[in-house]
Amino acid sequence: MTQPLIEAFFDEPTNTSSYLVGDPATRTAAVIDPVLDFDMASGVADTRSAERIVAFARAQDWRIAMVLETHAHADHLSAAPFIKAQTGAWIGIGAHIRDVQKIFRPVFAMDNLKTDGSDFDRLFEDGERFAIGALEVEVLHVPGHTPADVAYRIGDAAFVGDTLFMPDYGTARADFPGGDARTLYRSIRRLLALPDATRLFLCHDYKAPGRDDYRWETTVGDQRRSSVHVHDGVTEDTFVTMRERRDAGLSVPRLLLPSIQVNIRAGHFDKAEANGVTYLRIPVKWKAA
Ligand SMILES: [Fe+2]
Repeated sequence: MTQPLIEAFFDEPTNTSSYLVGDPATRTAAVIDPVLDFDMASGVADTRSAERIVAFARAQDWRIAMVLETHAHADHLSAAPFIKAQTGAWIGIGAHIRDVQKIFRPVFAMDNLKTDGSDFDRLFEDGERFAIGALEVEVLHVPGHTPADVAYRIGDAAFVGDTLFMPDYGTARADFPGGDARTLYRSIRRLLALPDATRLFLCHDYKAPGRDDYRWETTVGDQRRSSVHVHDGVTEDTFVTMRERRDAGLSVPRLLLPSIQVNIRAGHFDKAEANGVTYLRIPVKWKAA
């Protein structure tokens, strides 16, 4: 089996790891979860991080043919449209993104948002297979963090999005609308049923107590032996109790509101107003007196 060439790009402001995955035979490549640089306070967006990925691909003579999102992220804006514009790549995500669009359309009163997933170029069903050049990709629907999460299994590697984090940190939160801790546990067990040596590439790292460097690669075996949340022997009920208690104490991600409204539209902002400026929507809720 041909193994993919993998290059990670870690974005410290959002703790996100994006990946460039290449097929050595055809030099075709996919970008997974690219980050748009966005400063919420000033409203300034730029594409430095995505440019770094595109430049790396060009230097290696890899042709980026697709952008794969693991889910609609709540902590960073996607740079998928920039990569598409630069390279002609198509953009794919799990088919359950439609459910996420239906959940958030009324939250943001985005009356012009299509909820059929058609802002994306491809929607993946569970078990679907496609190719990056001569590499086969298998899509695994792994809901729980959101209803639409997918993992991409390519050779001996799996890109697991927000399901598992490093073994010393644990797992993703499951308290966003449509999220569910019990569902997340079942998705994680499905990932941990892959062969022990399967390399798992994560979407985020936040370091962990006692660790001062960022890491984004682990294995199924490592997780089963030493994940603080889901090592072998942790039951579904134990996990759910732990996850729900932990989620109750977590704060709202800094970029949640801009990220969701942009990412459910495949990374596109709303169209510009008559003055040529694009705006984001912030629903205002008054705290009960
Ligand atoms: Fe996420």
